[in-house]
Amino acid sequence: MRRKLAAGNWKMNGSMSAMSEVDGLVKAHPDPSVDILLCPPATLIWSMASMRGEHPMAVGAQDCHAAVSGAHTGDISAPMLREAGASHVIVGHSERRADHRETSEEVLTKAEAAHAAGLVAIVCLGETLEEREAGRTLEVVGAQLAASVPASATGTDTVIAYEPVWAIGTGKVATTDEIAEVHAFLRAELRRSHPSSAAEIRLLYGGSVKASNAAEIFAVPDVDGALVGGASLTAEQFSPIIRALE
Ligand code: G3H
Repeated sequence: MRRKLAAGNWKMNGSMSAMSEVDGLVKAHPDPSVDILLCPPATLIWSMASMRGEHPMAVGAQDCHAAVSGAHTGDISAPMLREAGASHVIVGHSERRADHRETSEEVLTKAEAAHAAGLVAIVCLGETLEEREAGRTLEVVGAQLAASVPASATGTDTVIAYEPVWAIGTGKVATTDEIAEVHAFLRAELRRSHPSSAAEIRLLYGGSVKASNAAEIFAVPDVDGALVGGASLTAEQFSPIIRALE
């Protein structure tokens, strides 16, 4: 049985004043029956990890470099994130694939670096609107899955997030049929590529998830939770999404 995961990606948002949101979440969910994860900007990882105290909420990063250390100005390695208090790291988010031209091959090396540092890698994939309209959705996400997910991935060290690019931050959510089709496809692909861990690897949906659509999305087979952007920034918005998973 896969445990549900409510993951929040703060992207480049948040400051020390936003730590009150962590306090709000911890108080609203003192003993959560699902996994909760927040991925703030790297500058807030340490503070957030300290703020949640003994609460099981996990703290993650939004990216890591594939190397452990070296001359990579501005980058942060997986062991550094771990030391700062992160247990998870998002890799291959479409904003990084687009803004930093990250390829699936690079995403794979980042996921492997995350695993080597003892971090759970949340590997993101998803098609653009152009690719969907050309009928290439399954081909695109299948290729990203094959190239970005380490061969050794297990349900313990890897989570996959399906995020249609056209649904991110746009308010346009994929229909439940569209989500069901892609998630069933990803599960089937995993059964072929990772037969011993396919049943355990969690598949998240991401893209304009909010309190009003969460329950409907979570009822879709093979949706094990969500990777939430905008609606994870406040406890008031994120908490009902967590509750919809419980
Ligand atoms: O990582 C999160 C996704 O990009 C979704 O963002 O919920 O703001 O659409 P959003």
